[in-house]
Amino acid sequence: MSETNSVRLTGPGGIEAELPIHEGTLGPRVMDVRRLYAQTGMFTYDPGFTATASCRSSITYIDGDAGILLYRGYRIEELAEKSDFLETAYLILYGDLPNGAQRLKFIHDITYHTMLHEQVQFLFRGFRRDAHPMALMIAVVGALSAFYYEDLDVEDPHHRMVATYRMIAKMPTIAAWAYKYSIGQPFVYPRNDLGYAENFIHMMFATPCEEYRVDPVLAKALDRIFILHADHEQNASTSTVRLVGSTGASPYAAIAAGIASLWGPAHGGANEAVVLMLDEIGTVDRIPEFLARAKDRNDPFRLMGFGHRVYKNYDPRAAVLKQSADEVLATLGQKNNPKLQIAKELEKIALEDEYFRERKLFPNVDFYSGIILEAMGIPTKMFTAIFALARTVGWIAQWNEMMLDPEQKIGRPRQLYVGPKERPFVPLEQRP
Ligand code: SDX
Repeated sequence: MSETNSVRLTGPGGIEAELPIHEGTLGPRVMDVRRLYAQTGMFTYDPGFTATASCRSSITYIDGDAGILLYRGYRIEELAEKSDFLETAYLILYGDLPNGAQRLKFIHDITYHTMLHEQVQFLFRGFRRDAHPMALMIAVVGALSAFYYEDLDVEDPHHRMVATYRMIAKMPTIAAWAYKYSIGQPFVYPRNDLGYAENFIHMMFATPCEEYRVDPVLAKALDRIFILHADHEQNASTSTVRLVGSTGASPYAAIAAGIASLWGPAHGGANEAVVLMLDEIGTVDRIPEFLARAKDRNDPFRLMGFGHRVYKNYDPRAAVLKQSADEVLATLGQKNNPKLQIAKELEKIALEDEYFRERKLFPNVDFYSGIILEAMGIPTKMFTAIFALARTVGWIAQWNEMMLDPEQKIGRPRQLYVGPKERPFVPLEQRP
């Protein structure tokens, strides 16, 4: 990060400040406000951190205006077409695409950490069978901080690497077991002869009663969905992981907090909400009714899968997923899938509507992903769990980057206080 020049601020009461400007390799420069309070006695004010850079990072770059997404400099479209999830995970973790030997070793090391401690099974059994998979994942991942606690020193690079591999390797098993538990079927153990996405599908749909062959088309489609969801800069759940990790807490606890944050319908929960919304719309002729509700300030309804804090253009992930939806549904003999037809018509009408154009609201990553997952036979309640599975790579990579960043310290924002001024205690008998 290079410091190019500075910004001079002047304000009422002789306030003056000189704030350094830092420039990265791509994207907006930053004004370093760390000494703003010391120089002016004022904080910055930025609810939702809409204009705040919380850290420096070299993992993911988003150009929201141009609709560009890079993982370590590589276009997401290229990675989705030419790479696979574990290779992309290696890229996100280590900064470069692996060579042959590195690739094979990484795949081996992840594959041989996919099993869970046998005691973990009993954590699931404390839940009702109809518990949402995300609640189970928060609990089980958080509980791993109890299984891996005594020997975990977050300052130790080897311990961080082990926790990193364990998280990436075990998330598919945890997610699949959350599903199996919800349908009352026995847990299916991971297999070392299957690929990452293939193994997940096998654990989701195989039973002990017969051989289950994973459709390679579905495995490839799911692997691509994992790539598209792997990381996304300092989004809400990644910022949650960083904030929890900044206190020195266990990475398993930090990831559990990230899963909790992702669950919200404004974030990763939107993929589930999109499919439920498309179900509610039901037919293309009801689209205008729902668009009117989305535009009505007095109606809390929003068009799920549309809009984004950063993208003010088409989310490049949505473009890949839209094409993948056509391919996968055609392969599955669902070329005329009604939800896909409604989604495409909804997108078309919304993008021609002044309300959406004026606010630069475009489809985001969640708009088409659920349609593909549902067509693959994955239940709606598992959509965000799959998002969490894939995003674990980004979360744990960003956690590692934070742990190595000399500028990082415990996250502790300030506030604009608008509460009562100091006042004396009022005895009970004197209260109205
Ligand atoms: C993800 O941050 C990330 O990178 C997240 C993510 C990732 O990979 O980690 O990309 C994944 O979370 C994608 C987003 C999934 N969420 C949804 O699809 C839910 C629907 N979208 C909205 O809730 C909303 O667009 C957000 C939350 C995504 C973004 O909200 P912002 O940036 O806070 O924008 P805003 O609420 O200030 O909206 C600006 C205007 C408002 O209207 P006005 O007050 O100016 O009149 O746009 C309107 C909003 O009402 N608006 C919408 C809308 N999204 C914004 N109106 C109708 N439908 C919508 N979807």
